[in-house]
Amino acid sequence: MDTGKLVKKLEEAGQSHLLQFWDDLSPEEQAEMISDLESMDFNEINGFFKNAMEVSSHSKQESVDSRMEPVPREVLGSVTRDRELLKGWEKEGLLHISQSKVAVLLLAGGQGTRLGVSYPKGMYDVGLPSHKTLFQIQAERILKLEQLAAQQRTCCIPWYIMTSGRTMESTKEFFSQHNYFGLSKENVIFFQQGMLPAMDYNGKIILESKGKLAMAPDGNGGLYRALGNQKIVEDMEQRGIAYLHVYCVDNILVKVADPTFIGFCVQKGADCGAKVVEKTNPTEAVGVVCKVDGRYQVVEYSEITLATAEKRSADGRLMFNAGNVANHFFTLTFLKDVVNIYEPQLQHHVAQKKIPFVNTQGQLIKPDKPNGIKMEKFVFDIFQFAKKFVVYEVLREDEFSPLKNADSQDGKDNPTTARHALMSLHHRWVLNAGGHFVDENGTRVPAIPRNGPAGSVTPDVNQNLKDGTDLPIKCEISPLVSYGGEGLEKLVQDRELRPNLIIDLRGVHELVKNGI
Ligand code: UD1
Repeated sequence: MDTGKLVKKLEEAGQSHLLQFWDDLSPEEQAEMISDLESMDFNEINGFFKNAMEVSSHSKQESVDSRMEPVPREVLGSVTRDRELLKGWEKEGLLHISQSKVAVLLLAGGQGTRLGVSYPKGMYDVGLPSHKTLFQIQAERILKLEQLAAQQRTCCIPWYIMTSGRTMESTKEFFSQHNYFGLSKENVIFFQQGMLPAMDYNGKIILESKGKLAMAPDGNGGLYRALGNQKIVEDMEQRGIAYLHVYCVDNILVKVADPTFIGFCVQKGADCGAKVVEKTNPTEAVGVVCKVDGRYQVVEYSEITLATAEKRSADGRLMFNAGNVANHFFTLTFLKDVVNIYEPQLQHHVAQKKIPFVNTQGQLIKPDKPNGIKMEKFVFDIFQFAKKFVVYEVLREDEFSPLKNADSQDGKDNPTTARHALMSLHHRWVLNAGGHFVDENGTRVPAIPRNGPAGSVTPDVNQNLKDGTDLPIKCEISPLVSYGGEGLEKLVQDRELRPNLIIDLRGVHELVKNGI
């Protein structure tokens, strides 16, 4: 395209200001800017802005609040209330995994702004004794599950990883450096979501420097467009995939391809399902699964009013307590319909942000209050299209501890809480398998029972969580040894164990300070 055409295209779209510093740019910068601008569909972007602003208007938000209904009991499965059915669901899930019909899809295109790191969140080391990163923990859970499911023949759980312009290169390089953590390279499939420009409140695209537009990933719901554009659905079909587990990168306890969740959804004949934990604090930053106008959706924490979030049922629990843990189940048939039919109907959500920009004098300004918006689609906005939607409730202490903030922030959802949650869970696995912990004098450390599943002995997992110090009992079990607490009896039953230990394929080791 010649520059004349580009100028006209920008004029027609009301975005001519993007070229205001043209004469200050070097020939290389000019060439880069032309290539960025040429690839953009400004009519589409302007349309996204108009719709997103309309949908996010205050009156619309309030009216969603007034139309929300809690999830009805009949679509809800629960690890605590349906205990006698769990084994059957797990068996069903394992069967599909053993037939290589299950794939996992990781949403890893986010920027980790709150955590304050410049690299992909999956590469984060929360300080476990093993120093495994989130990516490694997830990879090893996949490997272990493949082993558990495989009977006579080997099976495979392909791992689709969605990255963005911000995370693609470093993620791929990290996997390659670590030899795909023992998985086969051809079964780890990377693809990239789209990016959208940040806009000011008048719909003008923001310049982050004289020759560069402020761009951000288009939200985790950018998944569906990317799946279509990059022919990922075709890849899934060729591999014979029937079911998908889609999840977010930051939950250290995530049960990747959880056979019980998959088995539950399949047995219920669902085409779409969501895992939830009970939301107990009205201001917790989790979306809530609910019904609006008879259709399922998640109302995100940023879009619910406090008055609605605080509503309680007669039993004193929050009325909207199905807290979204960002673990979703889709059949491939449903996903195909979403990609081919429904995706264009999904609306962008608006996030008001402080977006650094260059002013008309060409100076970089870092605003101290929001000056514009980023537009994002959300992964769960397709629930409304499901023919049969189900919800599966799990225990927070077993399955949900997301890494969102830095340790220096407000003490919630940070590396310390993630590390503690994982080690507390593993501590309980050891107790449930018949192991005991003793202190330096050989005296048994008391196991403090809590309201865990029947028969389980659970220590006080929340102790010391807030002050950033370490747990009195540090225990880390490699996912290569146990996926969900199984198979530990032969290693720990009736053994007296020191409170600092790691259990991996080499056996049970005591930890010495600062290492193994
Ligand atoms: C998300 C959920 C929220 C849920 C919470 C649980 C969404 C939209 N919101 O909120 O309902 O209660 O997790 O922890 O799912 N990502 C991309 N591309 C993007 C943006 C994000 O792939 O453009 C990925 C991130 O890498 C991450 C996941 O999506 O894996 C969630 O993103 P994040 O921004 O952390 O979501 P939350 O606001 O915490």
